[in-house]
Amino acid sequence: MTTRVALVTGGTGGIGTAICRYLASQGHKVATNYRDEGKARAWQEAQKKAGFDFGLAKGDVADPATAEAMVREVERQLGPVDILINNAGITRDTTFHKMSATQWQDVISTNLGSCFNVTRPVIDGMRERKWGRIVQISSINGQKGQYGQANYAAAKAGMHGFTISLAQENAKFGITVNTVSPGYVGTDMVMAVPEDVRSKIVAQIPVGRLGDPDEIAFAVGFFVDDRARWITGANLAINGGQYMGW
Ligand code: CAA
Ligand code: NAP
Repeated sequence: MTTRVALVTGGTGGIGTAICRYLASQGHKVATNYRDEGKARAWQEAQKKAGFDFGLAKGDVADPATAEAMVREVERQLGPVDILINNAGITRDTTFHKMSATQWQDVISTNLGSCFNVTRPVIDGMRERKWGRIVQISSINGQKGQYGQANYAAAKAGMHGFTISLAQENAKFGITVNTVSPGYVGTDMVMAVPEDVRSKIVAQIPVGRLGDPDEIAFAVGFFVDDRARWITGANLAINGGQYMGW
């Protein structure tokens, strides 16, 4: 298989780490971003001990200028980016009638604005080289909505709108653009949901448990594979059966 350069945003988080590792296991060179250098270097060291060597570039995906600088730094370290996984994300859960403009804006800029901020600096190169893989990490709650998540559900639904437009514009350039929509996975993001609320959510999952980050990474790897070249504009739900819309 061909070794390519992959940028996974939010690679230091629960799902992001699993994606970085999976893509590395497929022979790719992988980098991620950081905001807090100390935390990121500790993560990088821990990955090294586990046998993984990941590049790191400073960058806040919610900010266009630093996101572009981050992409250029990854290119400097590893080469042109052929695989982009827009994974970085946050929640600011609260019912809409209590939501502040900041809670709305932070979630929209980080989860949706990031798709523009990070993809825009890589798209020209992918089009010139006639090969690219872009995957958005959306959410079950972008598909079905969620009590307390008007901001997050709007951003996550918007990510798939982004996917299906980019997929059309870039299909002739060997670039596929797809979305993965995970259900509830056992990372810090989900562990921040109050225990009593979380146990009610788990009770709604037919498989009977939270997802594992590796189960999401496997799906990302599927879209990235060379043989997935005719799959574009898809939205793959991976949620233990919690939501089965089609
Ligand atoms: N359906 C119906 N009613 C609900 C409800 C639901 N799902 N959740 C809460 N309520 C009700 C409560 O029973 C309560 O009713 P009463 O007033 O009659 O007692 C009322 O809503 C509470 O409303 P408040 O506005 O006072 O809300 P709150 O301050 O208590 O907080 C919340 C509500 C923040 C939404 C809290 O319930 C919560 O954290 N819910 C989890 C939201 C969630 O799923 N987040 C996902 C995070 S992980 C992630 O995002 C990853 C991913 O993509 C899957
Ligand atoms: P996580 O463990 O909280 O990790 C989030 C990652 O995003 C961290 O590396 C964080 O870096 C980074 N990040 C946040 N804001 C950023 C910003 N402005 N600029 C750069 N990086 C930023 O969360 P996770 O559960 O792995 O979630 C990863 C993605 O999957 C998110 O988009 C999330 O919405 C989505 N998702 C998660 C679930 C789930 O159940 N866990 C389900 C569906 C979808 P810092 O350390 O600097 O904060």
